[in-house]
Amino acid sequence: MAYIISNEQVAADVFVMRVAGQHAGGMGQFYMLRGDDGYRGDSYPLLSRPLSIHDRGDDYIAFLYRVHGRGTAILSRLAAGQQVLLEGPFGNGFPLLKECGRVALVGGGMGCAPLLLTARHYTEADIYLGFSGEMFAVNAFRQAVDSAEQVQVMNSRQQSVLELLDPSRYDTILACGPAGMLRALAECTAAANRHSMEQTGGSRGDIRLYISTEKHMACGIGACLTCTVQTNGGNRRTCVEGPVFAAEEVNWDDLTTV
Ligand SMILES: Cc1cc2nc3c(=O)[nH]c(=O)nc-3n(C[C@H](O)[C@H](O)[C@H](O)COP(=O)(O)OP(=O)(O)OC[C@H]3O[C@@H](n4cnc5c(N)ncnc54)[C@H](O)[C@@H]3O)c2cc1C
Ligand code: FES
Repeated sequence: MAYIISNEQVAADVFVMRVAGQHAGGMGQFYMLRGDDGYRGDSYPLLSRPLSIHDRGDDYIAFLYRVHGRGTAILSRLAAGQQVLLEGPFGNGFPLLKECGRVALVGGGMGCAPLLLTARHYTEADIYLGFSGEMFAVNAFRQAVDSAEQVQVMNSRQQSVLELLDPSRYDTILACGPAGMLRALAECTAAANRHSMEQTGGSRGDIRLYISTEKHMACGIGACLTCTVQTNGGNRRTCVEGPVFAAEEVNWDDLTTV
């Protein structure tokens, strides 16, 4: 168990929980969290909930989360000074590439959660954030990268954040968000790679796209197979071999379940 420093509401149903202590974990990895709000008549949830590492410092770790169902609702009711059960870090996380070239980070809605810590590693990256209502976390991104101008935001119910992005300007793209957004990003990245191959006569395009995926999870440690996703290399457990995959590896029809 670890003590909660703060659990601040930053938008409707969206919270940032900061938890005290020295916690390990890299960009794109996640923890399993479980809270007990002490409300009699509500039972302590049996299973912990996966939340990505949003931010991390020497003496704290932070999670950005939306209240979705019962587990996250209980987390949202916890206050500073109360405790939360925290297990992790789990998963592979985003790659730390030495030769990454120009990098773009693309987050759709709650998909921006794992990208703040990622932005702290790739401080020269351009950041694209998409919302379809209230925005959150944008200032934290502006402060994390070298220049606030690197952060571009689309807040619209009609337009996608992808309308701001030209994949051909980048060598590496790291993304997290709704499955539909990730699939559209994979298609336009593949099209840009095909175009580059036609121009250069090469055998493959140069833009690398890594996506963080979501599947329902139960154990979080690779034992139950609830989170299995189909890939070119066979079935993979999202909690161990994922949640980050190279875009060309995944079977998109298998990613639309959450
Ligand atoms: C690797 C990973 C990282 C995640 N990071 C974040 C994050 O940083 N912020 C955030 O807001 N959400 C994140 N999610 C989604 C979050 O885990 C779910 O919203 C949450 O588990 C819902 O639990 P609940 O009890 O509130 O809802 P319920 O619907 O009551 O949950 C019931 C069960 O379904 C599972 N479940 C429900 N929705 C999801 C979902 N979208 N993904 C996976 N399992 C789900 C729960 O774990 C639980 O076992 C992440 C999911 C995964 C897989
Ligand atoms: S959640 Fe149990 S194997 Fe991944």
